[in-house]
Amino acid sequence: MRNSINNTTQFYNNNFSLSTKRAHVFLINFDLFNSNDFKEFLSNDEIKRANKIKIVEKRHQFIISRGAVKKLLSTLLRKEVDQIEFLYSQHGKPFINEKYHNHVIEFNISHSGKYGLIAITLDNKIGVDIQKIDHNVNYNSLSARFFSDNEKNELMKLDKNKRKDAFYLGWVRKESFIKAIGTGVAYGLDRFSVSLNKNDNTNIVISDFENKKWHCYDLMEFNNYKTALTTCVNKIDIVISQ
Ligand SMILES: CC(C)(COP(=O)(O)OP(=O)(O)OC[C@H]1O[C@@H](n2cnc3c(N)ncnc32)[C@H](O)[C@@H]1OP(=O)(O)O)[C@@H](O)C(=O)NCCC(=O)NCCS
Repeated sequence: MRNSINNTTQFYNNNFSLSTKRAHVFLINFDLFNSNDFKEFLSNDEIKRANKIKIVEKRHQFIISRGAVKKLLSTLLRKEVDQIEFLYSQHGKPFINEKYHNHVIEFNISHSGKYGLIAITLDNKIGVDIQKIDHNVNYNSLSARFFSDNEKNELMKLDKNKRKDAFYLGWVRKESFIKAIGTGVAYGLDRFSVSLNKNDNTNIVISDFENKKWHCYDLMEFNNYKTALTTCVNKIDIVISQ
């Protein structure tokens, strides 16, 4: 953990150098920020979208994580934040059309509970996921519905008391993959497999998407949260700021 982010100016002043072999990950504790400080970074459309989010906690998550990523991108590109325009892929993944020293900036956002994650790299698609563990979750029915046959078998081989943890590990790893490739759930969650083994912290996702090898990395685990990042770079250097 090289930096500590606990006020808005740290998003502006963060000195980081992007590279195709490095991913920068920012963990945001929403409790440490006031969403009013981030509203000025949002476009009119984003403000309208925020205003439609009825659950206050979710509205704050959206405003802070959106505002933070836009501010980061504007700092990197040395542009005013209102010049950073988000476009959306067919399945809704936000991207920008700006180049950074002739490289494409790839980024992804995730939020759950009190925390958000932003991941940024160059040229290689990236997906990130954070998930708060719900101890009442019915992981049997969710895994039956969403996991691949390999994953279901792997889960059932585990001791019962280890299954919920393995389920969540699988969940964030799977989500980070479908977010990296940008299809979201449309790709089919049962069409690819991740390892549910805690010790495989650099996994290859079993998928033929774009004929590439996709690598899934665990980021950090804390206070009932699980996190993962997927990209097609093997042994990527991950710099985490929190
Ligand atoms: C986008 C998606 C992939 C993840 O949504 P999610 O887990 O609810 O939310 P996250 O907080 O992790 O991610 C939301 C962010 O992803 C980004 N996003 C949206 N669509 C995306 C896509 N197709 N690909 C990648 N990123 C996307 C956006 O930046 C969004 O943040 P925003 O609120 O600032 O717009 C969505 O397709 C989804 O609904 N997944 C279903 C989850 C599920 O049932 N999983 C079961 C696993 S066992």
